[in-house]
Amino acid sequence: MSKVTKNMHPDLEEILFTEKQIGERVKEMGAAISADYKGKPLVLVGILRGALVFLSDLSRSIDIPHSFDMVGASSYGSATSSSGRVQITKDVEINLRGKHVVVCEDIYDSGRTLAAIRDLLKVHHPESVEVAALLYKKVARRAANVDIKYQGFDLDDKFVVGYGLDYAEIYRNLPYIGVLSPRIYEKSGK
Ligand code: IMP
Ligand code: MG
Repeated sequence: MSKVTKNMHPDLEEILFTEKQIGERVKEMGAAISADYKGKPLVLVGILRGALVFLSDLSRSIDIPHSFDMVGASSYGSATSSSGRVQITKDVEINLRGKHVVVCEDIYDSGRTLAAIRDLLKVHHPESVEVAALLYKKVARRAANVDIKYQGFDLDDKFVVGYGLDYAEIYRNLPYIGVLSPRIYEKSGK
């Protein structure tokens, strides 16, 4: 049963996490990171482009000194299931040697993106690497296992958009996270 919500984008069939719920959860994640990394050199590394919105809010929820950078990875194209290949499109620019890194990802799905980024970051000799993922897809088709230290919300195997997450590069600006109506991607044959 789909829940139709007032003011919801017409291409969605249900809102799963409201702007308020996301804001509260991200603040909790920021508080946990602030406590864990107090007195340590911390760098947040967001994965473009999906984690941009999450990184921006998470950084402002962290009250200890830290810096942030972005890496680029692309695995999806415009389809709604993983292509199986992860392409690194941008490396970090700030020096990570001796720093504690928290990788920020929008969603943990097959795990391929996070595994590829974890391998990429090792080359930069950080002191430690942990992962913060806003959404955790509880899928059986996990291809690579990555420990997620900070986790926002559990998610069933649904294709969601909003708060940075896209379908064919749109919907990233929606302030909430919702399920994209299948008629949108069925129509385009992806
Ligand atoms: P993974 O490499 O399969 O774990 O996929 C991670 C990437 O796939 C994420 O960074 C997202 O960009 C994208 N992705 C996975 N599931 C969804 C979804 O439900 N909606 C939008 N993008 C998704
Ligand atoms: Mg994406």
